[in-house]
Amino acid sequence: MIIKSSSYAVSAVKESQYPKDNLPEIALAGRSNVGKSSLINTLLKRKNLARTSSQPGKTQTLNFYLVNDEFYLVDVPGYGYAKVSQKRRQEFGEMIQDYLETRPNLKGLIILIDSRHQPTKDDIAMYEYAQYLNIPILVVCTKMDKIKKSQTNKVMSGLKKHLDLSYDHVTVLTFSSVTKLHVAELGDWIEDKINQ
Ligand code: GTP
Ligand code: MG
Repeated sequence: MIIKSSSYAVSAVKESQYPKDNLPEIALAGRSNVGKSSLINTLLKRKNLARTSSQPGKTQTLNFYLVNDEFYLVDVPGYGYAKVSQKRRQEFGEMIQDYLETRPNLKGLIILIDSRHQPTKDDIAMYEYAQYLNIPILVVCTKMDKIKKSQTNKVMSGLKKHLDLSYDHVTVLTFSSVTKLHVAELGDWIEDKINQ
């Protein structure tokens, strides 16, 4: 996919605030601090379009970015951040659930998992939930620049132990926002999904 243009469109916490132009959407999910906003910037070749932070909990709303006037990337608050209050966590959960369950133009979900760690309970729950909703999934093992080359196979076998990758509509990619590993493949997956 060639990125010709990208811009921030809107932030939303409920359906009435989502974009109304009916373009296809690709959303990102994953633990707080896993690198969702960074992946958006890397794909779009923008330094700071999606706000990133070394402090978890940076993204707090559904943030829609318009790409090529063709589709939206939807940055989603991360899960599993202990310092967020129980009440706030529940609100985040409901906001994400409402979006994933009711959005007809959602064409795919990118689930990011930190390559350095085994998938968490939350990662597994998100993966199974997306399967249940029948949304095409791209599992992205990110921060691969932190992994020794010799450990690459271990990342994949750890993943397979926790996620049933034999489901339909699942693709897996290793990725790094630092080295741009597999950024072209990421673009290809998105292009494929928005055109289906
Ligand atoms: P929330 O908005 O809190 O849910 O976090 P997020 O998933 O959007 O993470 P974000 O993109 O803000 O990145 C969190 C931290 O990880 C930042 O310090 C990034 O620079 C760093 N980071 C993101 N991707 C990579 C990567 O591929 N490699 C390395 N080494 N660091 C990364
Ligand atoms: Mg973020």
